Amino acid sequence: MCISHSAAETSDLGRARARQLQRGDVLALTGELGTGKTQFVKGIVAGLGSSDEVTSPTFTLLHEYRGGQLPVYHFDFYRLNSPDEALAIGLDDYLFGDGVAVIEWADRFHGIMPSTAEWIDFKLKSNGARVIDIRVRS
Ligand SMILES: Nc1ncnc2c1ncn2[C@@H]1O[C@H](COP(=O)(O)OP(=O)(O)O)[C@@H](O)[C@H]1O
Ligand SMILES: [Mg+2]
Repeated sequence: MCISHSAAETSDLGRARARQLQRGDVLALTGELGTGKTQFVKGIVAGLGSSDEVTSPTFTLLHEYRGGQLPVYHFDFYRLNSPDEALAIGLDDYLFGDGVAVIEWADRFHGIMPSTAEWIDFKLKSNGARVIDIRVRS
């Protein structure tokens, strides 16, 4: 469990996580709006050596960042109505593909996440800090 006191600290945690990432890894991000999920993804993408701009794929469902050591497939399930919408764009190919998949709001459709996914939970504390809880793989 980590406490982040600033946006920069949140992206630094993503950078640190990026160092250990391997092809096929799946990161399932959970937590309310504004808790730092997209900021963490910025750190991951930067940490993999990409200078691609990271923005929330809320309306487009998927953003791909290809400038780094591994491609990053960035999903956001916030606006999806059913898991079928994610499966229809080929989610499984991205999950078990050549890169790293990072999914915001993954808990909306827990059932389509692989059992190997690493769950990372983001919470806003009353003082504005974020608690970021990276759970061990099950
Ligand atoms: N620890 C922190 N303290 C203050 N602001 C933060 C912190 N972590 C992230 N932020 C900022 O909070 C805002 C919302 O973060 P964002 O990553 O877009 O949230 P989410 O994707 O969970 O909705 C952004 O402006 C981000 O830079
Ligand atoms: Mg977001």
